[in-house]
Amino acid sequence: MSKLQAVQQELKTINPKISTKIVQADFTGNANVQFYQNIYDQVKDLDISILVNNAGVMLNGRVDLINPKALTDTIDVNVVQVCMMTSQFLPKLLQRQPRSAIINVSSLIGYQDANAGSGIYCASKAYVNFFTSAFTEEVKEKIDIQLMTPGMAQTNLCGEISQSNLLGLSAVSVVYGSIRDLGYEAQTSGHWSHEVQLPFLKLLSQISIFHAVTDYWFGRKYLYNN
Ligand SMILES: NC(=O)c1ccc[n+]([C@@H]2O[C@H](COP(=O)([O-])OP(=O)(O)OC[C@H]3O[C@@H](n4cnc5c(N)ncnc54)[C@H](OP(=O)(O)O)[C@@H]3O)[C@@H](O)[C@H]2O)c1
Repeated sequence: MSKLQAVQQELKTINPKISTKIVQADFTGNANVQFYQNIYDQVKDLDISILVNNAGVMLNGRVDLINPKALTDTIDVNVVQVCMMTSQFLPKLLQRQPRSAIINVSSLIGYQDANAGSGIYCASKAYVNFFTSAFTEEVKEKIDIQLMTPGMAQTNLCGEISQSNLLGLSAVSVVYGSIRDLGYEAQTSGHWSHEVQLPFLKLLSQISIFHAVTDYWFGRKYLYNN
């Protein structure tokens, strides 16, 4: 709660006229309809113009070497949450005039298959990619949907490695690109330096030497050091 209150305070400092409402929810272990209805019920009387499904956790390791609870927690947060929040909020968002929007935060890595050591995280983001692309086709006449697929950003998710990585961008620059493209692009990585990685990732996913290199640098570490 203190983290949410700090964000609330930050928003008030930026704009004292802003109104905020905190709804605290832990998506782990709560893959049930009642939990998501309860979130919606707490905000349903507000004029909601945008839903950002941003929550995500990273989990690395081979499936049999990971604590099974961490597996279900990751799927709850990265997969179930995106689907259930969308299903709860969509009817209200579809009715709104002027247009409303949904941003589903995925990752470039959702396009990279056979990524040893990161299969759970990649698959969870691939779910968001496929779910959002199909869903966009279903509702794009009435609402703006954005599939947000950043590369590495300097946040808690990747920790120190994102600070030293040349391709690691500030969260602000990634979010800026997302807002810039909202309503214009169905999919964005937010920044050109992440955007250009996408065709290479898709291509490299098909090349075995690339797997050998990534397995060596990342796979060994993630597979056996959990
Ligand atoms: N950082 C990157 O390099 C990168 C790259 C591509 C995509 N992404 C994606 O970007 C999104 C945001 O991640 P981030 O980089 O900003 O990492 P982050 O700083 O670790 O933020 C993760 C967010 O998810 C929330 N969250 C985590 N577990 C939760 C749970 N059980 N219930 C409810 N909320 C939970 C966190 O809330 P609390 O702070 O309250 O815990 C936080 O708001 C994620 O979907 C991530 O997969 C990140």
